[in-house]
Amino acid sequence: MKRTKIKELLTVEPKGQSVVVKGWVRTFRNNQFISLNDGSTIQNLQAVVALNSVDEGTLKRITTGACLFVTGELVPSPAKGQPVELRVQALEILGDSDPEKYPLQPKKHSLEFLREIAHLRARTNTFGAVMRVRHAMAFAVHKFFNDRGFYYIHTPIITGSDAEGAGAMFRVTTLDMNKPPRDEHGHIDVKEDFFGRETNLTVSGQLEVETYALALSETYTFGPTFRAENSNTTRHLAEFWMIEPEMAFYDIHDNMELAEAFLKYLCQYALDHCAEDLEFLDKRAKEEEQSKPQDQRSELGLIDRLKFVVENEFQKLSYTEAFDILRNSNPNKKKKFQYLIENWGVDLQSEHERYLVEKHFKKPVILYNYPAAIKAFYMRQNEDGKTVAAMDVLFPGIGEIIGGSQREERYDNLLKRVQEMGLPEKELWWYLELRKFGSAPHSGFGLGFERLILFVTGMTNIRDVIPFPRFPGNAEF
Ligand code: 4AD
Ligand code: MG
Repeated sequence: MKRTKIKELLTVEPKGQSVVVKGWVRTFRNNQFISLNDGSTIQNLQAVVALNSVDEGTLKRITTGACLFVTGELVPSPAKGQPVELRVQALEILGDSDPEKYPLQPKKHSLEFLREIAHLRARTNTFGAVMRVRHAMAFAVHKFFNDRGFYYIHTPIITGSDAEGAGAMFRVTTLDMNKPPRDEHGHIDVKEDFFGRETNLTVSGQLEVETYALALSETYTFGPTFRAENSNTTRHLAEFWMIEPEMAFYDIHDNMELAEAFLKYLCQYALDHCAEDLEFLDKRAKEEEQSKPQDQRSELGLIDRLKFVVENEFQKLSYTEAFDILRNSNPNKKKKFQYLIENWGVDLQSEHERYLVEKHFKKPVILYNYPAAIKAFYMRQNEDGKTVAAMDVLFPGIGEIIGGSQREERYDNLLKRVQEMGLPEKELWWYLELRKFGSAPHSGFGLGFERLILFVTGMTNIRDVIPFPRFPGNAEF
């Protein structure tokens, strides 16, 4: 007989039909009631062992964490809170789990502890829910773009350029670190390396996907990106996934509109397709918040926050307008900000972004037209000679969730910027050449996938929304 997933069993009418279920034991009570989970849903199936239906030896091996193969009759459940239960006919242990040693006993564990057993934490309700939502969001990303005629472009993971300058990079090499080949100056001879040059893991697929936007019009890339910054925060990973759409013929305003539609679509998709998991996560987040001081609790619960994003227009304003608001704000006047806002042109810190989103506007905010000096070389220069057509989308509780811009499509302007910033013009030959042959106005942005998942799940540490987080000092698993 074929296995049926628990998710499916919970929707069929119980008529005493025989079914096969496989899954992991969450709890086993009174030598009779097995709570079984197979990950297809957050719900467990109750399997009831009748007297003498399972031999003594097997019964002892039904322990939390063990994996079971159960055949039984699906019947209406007399117990509250579950429509059906399984009357066990035959039971086989697929994998034992020593109750003395199994680290995941059925009790509340801290997220810190669970990070140390990341190979088992998927078997908790929280991580099951988070990873099902993560899956749904990845699927929704592709659906959103596919439905709009965008092409998914696979940009390289190993790259020979650090043109982006988005962050420190991880070197990729096959040279023997104990005795690397040296050139006549005693420097490591990269010509001897695998690619005959220095290579790194990519920090962003943007520059490469731009080449495809200038051929296929509307494109995106979605892949892992790597940054070797020493950022030990709840918002940064050394390895994270990024979605980067890039579109020919879009200006900065088209770009902002797409970003807003995209985020709304993803939130709505989660509401439509992950209701059960979101309800669990909503409750979980509320409990978590109880331990926080009143003024740090969010006004809305998780599901209400998602609805709020879908239903409200994002606030759009220029850097200069935001700068004025921040300079005149109470926390600035009372010197409550760690970084005071005094001179136009300063980079905004997350305390400023969160003030704008959480205190001032109380909704998602898109800031645009940033000072050129604090943004990347490829952003389109505005007529004022001071700002570039950059945009950041700021979310409550998260801060920056998206960064993007209209790109500089004018060869001379771009070249000047490359030179001013002391970037390797020679390495950027192909990027510059795009502006020589059939250049076009174009724009794009990058959405940090884990920051999206933080927002959609209500989790508070980015290390808990990716299966195996990579951060300074940690590459276990
Ligand atoms: O603002 P960033 O650095 O922009 C770029 O990389 C552009 N090339 C994107 C583009 O225009 N195509 O990064 C984009 C987003 C951020 O807004 C943030 O959500 C996320 O990526 N991000 C990180 N997420 C987790 N850990 C990190 N260390 C991150 N750094 C950026
Ligand atoms: Mg950014």
